[in-house]
Amino acid sequence: MSAVVEETTKPGLREGAFGNATGLACRECGHEIELGPFYACPECFGPLEIAYDFPVVTREQIEAGPANIWRYKALLPVPSDIEESPNMEPGFTRLLRAHNLGKQLGIDNLWVKDDSTNPTNSFKDRVVACALSAARELGSTVFACPSTGNLANAVAAAGARAGIKTVVFIPANLEHPKVVNSAVYTEQLVAVNGNYDDVNRLASEIAGEEDGWAFVNVNVRPYYAEGSKTLGFEIAEQLGWRLPDQIVIPVASGSQLTKVNKAFQELIKLGLVEDKPYKVYGAQATGCSPVSVAFKSGAQIVKPVKPDTIAKSLAIGNPADAVYVLDICRRSNGAVEDITDEEVREGILLLARTEGIFTETAGGTTVGVLKKLVETGQLDPTLETVVINTGMGLKTLDAVSDRVAAAATIDPSYDAFVATGLA
Ligand SMILES: Cc1ncc(COP(=O)(O)O)c(C=O)c1O
Ligand SMILES: [Zn+2]
Repeated sequence: MSAVVEETTKPGLREGAFGNATGLACRECGHEIELGPFYACPECFGPLEIAYDFPVVTREQIEAGPANIWRYKALLPVPSDIEESPNMEPGFTRLLRAHNLGKQLGIDNLWVKDDSTNPTNSFKDRVVACALSAARELGSTVFACPSTGNLANAVAAAGARAGIKTVVFIPANLEHPKVVNSAVYTEQLVAVNGNYDDVNRLASEIAGEEDGWAFVNVNVRPYYAEGSKTLGFEIAEQLGWRLPDQIVIPVASGSQLTKVNKAFQELIKLGLVEDKPYKVYGAQATGCSPVSVAFKSGAQIVKPVKPDTIAKSLAIGNPADAVYVLDICRRSNGAVEDITDEEVREGILLLARTEGIFTETAGGTTVGVLKKLVETGQLDPTLETVVINTGMGLKTLDAVSDRVAAAATIDPSYDAFVATGLA
């Protein structure tokens, strides 16, 4: 009898539940364990990452796939029938040539990867789609996350579409549009009196206490994080199966930056792009810049900080992947840089007025850091450069609303218009 109970509470995985993934490998000591709801190495507590045995994958196979992240499903920990289960179908967002911004900054060959057009308007839809697949395959009954805002939006929407109980946890002082953008999808939104790091600690505690909860960025983090690789895959494919020379990426937990780099490495190993050097740059806001501070001081470890910045989506004071970001940026001869909140606002306006893209504070940070990197000689303006816009300006209107206004308020007459001098 007890054996039966054991079986029903711990269902086995179906064949191919995680596609070509073969196990979970520790980033620190290399120890490998079986696939499951695990995220810390049982030997050394290091973070676990997905290990694969990739088959031959060709450009043609990928190009024949759908115009979303599932075109790369062979390179993700998802089953081959992933498109059949309800999901948000994120990805394959635009890679735009940024002539005007490039001209303004003196960069010859600049591209913007615009992830603001994902279903809930940030790159988080990518990672959540992979986490949802893992939650489904693991038989989880609750889909959840601690979030700086965008992740909560993506989890709440994907959970609604998948028809799974969804609970999202956010810091209570989040931007109002980000709260509404979650609350429309779920009635189970929990605002916590504390910063993101407090919310994250609470989520880890709940994950340890409650059965069947899939916290996307806690206990199914290895699967979740793989979703960010699709940004790197798409950039390479959209450049014509080529890696850029330089790439600038915002850093909160650091997961996205490490995974874009992993994507480039996998494409090289699979022979889908030519092996060549590229430089990776991380962008932070000065009010939450633990990785940038460590980079500049030459430190190997990252000291946690208490965030104080308008770039709330990047406000993680104790980033999980900080040391890996440092390592990638140093080894690739890139850098990690930070800018003030005023420069973040200027970055938002600069991108809007040169390229017609309204980004949120995270994108303002990335564009502002790109500008600073050129001005300080850390980024080569003659090399092909990609900057990632990860979010949408309508979610952080307050950041710029007192900087923009109608040029004039007039009566509806031609004379009144001429009097404005705008004719
Ligand atoms: C818009 C936006 N950009 C970038 C990031 C940073 O992502 P990561 O935690 O993977 O470094 C976040 C994280 O919440 C975000 O919301
Ligand atoms: Zn280990």
